[in-house]
Amino acid sequence: MKEVFIGNYGLEQVGQKMTATGWVANIRNHGKLAFIELRDREGLLQVFVAGDSPAFAGIDHLHKEDVISVTGEVVKRENRFVNKAIKSGQVELRAEAIQILANSKSLPFELDQHAHTGEDLRQKYRYLDLRRSKMTENLKLRHQVTSTIRDYLNGKDFMEVETPYLTKSTPEGARDFLVPSRVFKNQFYALPQSPQMLKQLLMGAGLERYYQVVRCFRDEDLRGDRQPEFTQVDMEMSFVSEEDIRRLVEGMLKAVVKKTHGLELTEAFSTISYEEAMSRFGSDKPDTRFGLELKSLTDLCQANESLLIKKALDNQEEVMGICVPNAANAFTKKQLSHFYQEMKGFGASRFASVTVEAGGLQGVLASTFETEVAAFIERFKAQDGDLLLLVIAKKRQAQEALGYLRLEVAKHLDLIDQSLLNFLWVVDWPLLEWNEDQNRYQAMHHPFTQGIFEDGQEPGQFCSHAYDIVLNGYEIGGGSLRIHDRKAQEAMFELLGMSREDYERDFGFFLEALEYGFPPHGGLALGLDRLVMILAGEENIRQVIAFPKNGTGFDPMLESPSLVDQRQLKDLHLELKN
Ligand code: AMO
Repeated sequence: MKEVFIGNYGLEQVGQKMTATGWVANIRNHGKLAFIELRDREGLLQVFVAGDSPAFAGIDHLHKEDVISVTGEVVKRENRFVNKAIKSGQVELRAEAIQILANSKSLPFELDQHAHTGEDLRQKYRYLDLRRSKMTENLKLRHQVTSTIRDYLNGKDFMEVETPYLTKSTPEGARDFLVPSRVFKNQFYALPQSPQMLKQLLMGAGLERYYQVVRCFRDEDLRGDRQPEFTQVDMEMSFVSEEDIRRLVEGMLKAVVKKTHGLELTEAFSTISYEEAMSRFGSDKPDTRFGLELKSLTDLCQANESLLIKKALDNQEEVMGICVPNAANAFTKKQLSHFYQEMKGFGASRFASVTVEAGGLQGVLASTFETEVAAFIERFKAQDGDLLLLVIAKKRQAQEALGYLRLEVAKHLDLIDQSLLNFLWVVDWPLLEWNEDQNRYQAMHHPFTQGIFEDGQEPGQFCSHAYDIVLNGYEIGGGSLRIHDRKAQEAMFELLGMSREDYERDFGFFLEALEYGFPPHGGLALGLDRLVMILAGEENIRQVIAFPKNGTGFDPMLESPSLVDQRQLKDLHLELKN
């Protein structure tokens, strides 16, 4: 085994005879001498092969990505030849003997031309893709994050406990991945969407502080920050307050950032309520690295005479917008109409873009707001040359549409400082949200979250002890204080429209557990992939997962999912329809 990775060779190795093993990243044969760039996990090392050395004879037989071993002396490079771009740049290895340990065919893509390689080809040859330094660095970063988290939690007396992957399908949440049972005919296990009930049961077991770096499985539509299987740092603790949990997680994230970025975050993370996040940023996971905050203009439009506004106000709709400084000419009509098209997906359908000119408004709908011009400008603190992007819609729809627009505009105008790490707690979440399709309430977090109830409130107004941790506009974690009393848990299931029969069948074991001295408890789960993605400066979690699925949930390397043998189906008592 190597004592020193060759990418880490430096002045300490000068004068020593070493045997360096690695991959040939590049060969430059100048006829009378040659250079090999040799690569291992930690980086590159320059190998110098003199024309008169026995090693030179075999140089023509070397190919890129061959695995070789080079024996020779490490020498200090002359100052003018020091290569600052690589860690080992102060030295080189003078080859005396070269041995080929494994040949490589020509690769299906060049490792140094990242941008030109299709995503599926990279994934088909993932083991080659992972040889790229950025990918290796991403996996190293992930390892650093995980080990820092483990050290931190072990230091706070947490116990890592594993929970099963073959569990039980329960309603609520995303679609389950099911595993048919061979032994129990017509019955299925489900892969866990998270170990939520199991970690709570560990609190019932008296473990008090649990964590697990655990794989979770959700059969949901994929996005850049979603994979069908992903990893959570799952935590649960007993006898704690919301504050305790948040301080603990904050300390953990600060330890991570210190390790990965060498950054000492001294201030407490900011905290914002769910309602404020929605009204200021149009998102429950606001990116606070830039402004462009939403403003409601509804109160300024009460005396507006136009039919459009009168009708909207009668319909309990709102007028809202964002002001983009100096952007009067920043977008073409086509770009704006593209944004508006996307905003329709949030249920908003009326938009206006007006510019501020000579203290007035210009644009298609400018005349509609003739009487409100001065008040609008004052509310936005707008200046000549600014662009106002307005929406008329129901409150939540207007907020969400503007939340989308705010982000797109910021990306387009390059307003986001990529060097920032803005952590933010979003607290005071509603307990429930109305599900139009199913005509019932559903849990905003999950059905085990403790509610906060005030007299005279409708269920939709109940608040909860839930919190999310957000980083740069991504939800990187979420949790809550839990219900630890059978009656309260039953009441919650009933609020979700479940009958006694339903919840006894699906959650009977859990409800019973709550009757045997169950401690007050709470927790949180971090999305490890998302956290590492942001810390790595990547935009897709695939980049920080060794063997991810592609955008359709397919693994191009394993060619999975795949058909299976008839015999296997028979064992599982399954028959395919076609
Ligand atoms: P939640 O469902 O919010 O909470 O998940 C916790 C965190 O996991 C990450 N995450 C994902 N990452 C990648 N791909 C996905 N498909 C995916 N889905 C979720 C997010 C999210 O914040 N049991 C609760 C936690 C608790 O209450 O303690 C839970 O699973 O970063």
